Amino acid sequence: MSQLLITGGAGFIGSHVCLSLLEGGNNLVVIDDFSNSSHQSLQRVCELSSVKDERRLKVFQGDIRNPKDLQNAFDAIDSAFDAVVHFAGLKAVGESCKSPLRYWDVNVNGTRCLLEVMKNNDCRTIVFSSSATLYGYPDQVPTPESADIRPVNPYGHTKAAVEQLLADMASSEPGWRIACLRYFNPVGAHPSGLIGEDPNGTPNNLFPYISQVAVGRLKELEVFGCDWPTIDGSAVRDYIHVMDLAEGHCEAIDFLNRGKPQLITFNLGTGNGYSVVQVIDAFEKVTGIEIPYRMGLRRIGDVACSVADPSLVAERLGWKTKRSLSDMCRDSWAWQKANPYGYCHH
Ligand code: NAD
Ligand code: UD1
Repeated sequence: MSQLLITGGAGFIGSHVCLSLLEGGNNLVVIDDFSNSSHQSLQRVCELSSVKDERRLKVFQGDIRNPKDLQNAFDAIDSAFDAVVHFAGLKAVGESCKSPLRYWDVNVNGTRCLLEVMKNNDCRTIVFSSSATLYGYPDQVPTPESADIRPVNPYGHTKAAVEQLLADMASSEPGWRIACLRYFNPVGAHPSGLIGEDPNGTPNNLFPYISQVAVGRLKELEVFGCDWPTIDGSAVRDYIHVMDLAEGHCEAIDFLNRGKPQLITFNLGTGNGYSVVQVIDAFEKVTGIEIPYRMGLRRIGDVACSVADPSLVAERLGWKTKRSLSDMCRDSWAWQKANPYGYCHH
């Protein structure tokens, strides 16, 4: 059993990881400013994990850029945290091109602030949400962790900067235990349909878009590009079920706490790629709902193919994904069907 601080724990990935960590017997303190999430997500996490004891999950509304807010969270428990799991941040690629200052402030300055408060409180273990977006246009697919880091948008630049900052911390003094987890495309939801992804406005990402077409909120899907050098001309991604991702975090925390101080970097993906058209087919097959779609132009900044080489994490943590593309479709749909307008309008 560990005492963990979870930044951004009310968000899409954070809420699912909180559930897995509670089920693993850990005690959690969440700090979130709720700028992109709802209080309901963590209430439902409590329902799902049957946590009635509020000592197991404490929630603080606060901004990671504010040291006082962070210190309040550190003061919530008697001992030091065993680790911090750091999700808080901004993640929309298009928005990052329009507002780079905001992205650098929240993602980079926010992490700098978090690390300073961690150091002051003698906590030197952190799991960081990094992204496959770091690889830009990769030379090698499936892509291993050793591939070049060359992001192509401000969001990616902030993730690269945080990875560098973490490497600098690890070299500055002994004792840091750091895991950078590079997620590929997290999708799906907890199979209960009680928690899931609840984007603001029209979704940019494929799974929430398809689910909103299925539930009747959107008319049709536009497939961005039909002339990519792939199996059917649409772009290929490595979709990973958010519950597999959540279990990967539990393994990474155990690994860090067991071993010697070190910095590790892992891809979290399945190693399998699916095209947009294959995803539509899988969704239709699983749900029995037809998804009207039309072929459109390529989206600026997209790559043909992004797939993880997940062999390093398998070898070091003994972790690999268990859930299929059909599971991802089934669970995304269970969430969307039960919550057509997300948390707020339930
Ligand atoms: P999300 O927006 O659902 O969750 C982020 C959470 O952080 C939200 O609850 C938000 O309210 C909170 N937050 C934002 N700014 C904050 C601040 N200044 N102080 C405190 N809390 C703040 O996003 P997500 O999809 O759950 O992503 C979690 C992390 O994983 C992010 O760092 C993201 O960049 C990274 N990531 C996500 C994906 C993806 O496809 N979803 C892929 C790769 C990496
Ligand atoms: C995007 C970001 C990535 C980020 C991730 C999670 C870009 C270039 N990349 O990944 O940095 O980590 O989201 O937030 O923005 N698609 C359609 N129609 C749609 C929506 C998507 O055809 O309406 C296609 C896309 O072109 C892509 C695939 O579906 O080929 C997946 O798209 P998406 O879910 O947005 O993820 P990525 O672009 O891979």
